[in-house]
Amino acid sequence: MPVIFINGEAVEAGEHRTVLQAALANGFYIPHFCWHPKLSIVGSCRVCVVEQEGRGVNIACNMPVVDGMRVLTDSEPVQAQRKAMLQFILLNHPVDCGICDKAGECTLQDYHYAYNGEPALSHDPKLHATKFFPLSERIILDNERCILCSRCVRFTREVSKSNVLGIEYRGDSSLVRPAEGRTLDDDPYSDNVIDLCPVGALLSRSFLHQARVWYLEPTPSVCPGCARGCTVQ
Ligand code: FES
Repeated sequence: MPVIFINGEAVEAGEHRTVLQAALANGFYIPHFCWHPKLSIVGSCRVCVVEQEGRGVNIACNMPVVDGMRVLTDSEPVQAQRKAMLQFILLNHPVDCGICDKAGECTLQDYHYAYNGEPALSHDPKLHATKFFPLSERIILDNERCILCSRCVRFTREVSKSNVLGIEYRGDSSLVRPAEGRTLDDDPYSDNVIDLCPVGALLSRSFLHQARVWYLEPTPSVCPGCARGCTVQ
């Protein structure tokens, strides 16, 4: 079983294939946006950087575990690169946490305060796109908040298999959009993308500006789409 050293501490990497997985499984938190345990790895957000001894700084979500390797999750070079990536992401993403439905459970909000501690250098609205784009009867996309992590796109391709979503255009013009002639209403599991979105870009119309997550109370329920009928709280 491979053993790796995270911040000088020996940990068993177990069956975990990547440094990010091994770190999270052993209680070392590494910030991440695009990685999700149920989705393929795209390595696009670049905030999960770690420093590997002798190899410099690289992303942990796509770094295979090698027996004996040594990584640092919060060294000075790591902090500098992570901060630079967060500032880059915040060029388009407004720091509008005060009116955002995701506030309080948003990893970008958490990382912004942890690594920047100062307002974004500038906010450059995506002038080529309207702020809100309806993806379905129930779900709205806030184009400015979207950080193009592609979790929602991969969900419709890899999990629900509806293939409804894709990313149009390139570079600064990139936008999440449904395939031509389709909407997220075509995907019976589409409401999951609201939870999958790490930054509050996908909004539920029925929840919009209605409540903060900390006002909600757990309620026994049975998922209508699940044949197992398990009860969750
Ligand atoms: Fe590793 Fe996004 S989580 S690049």
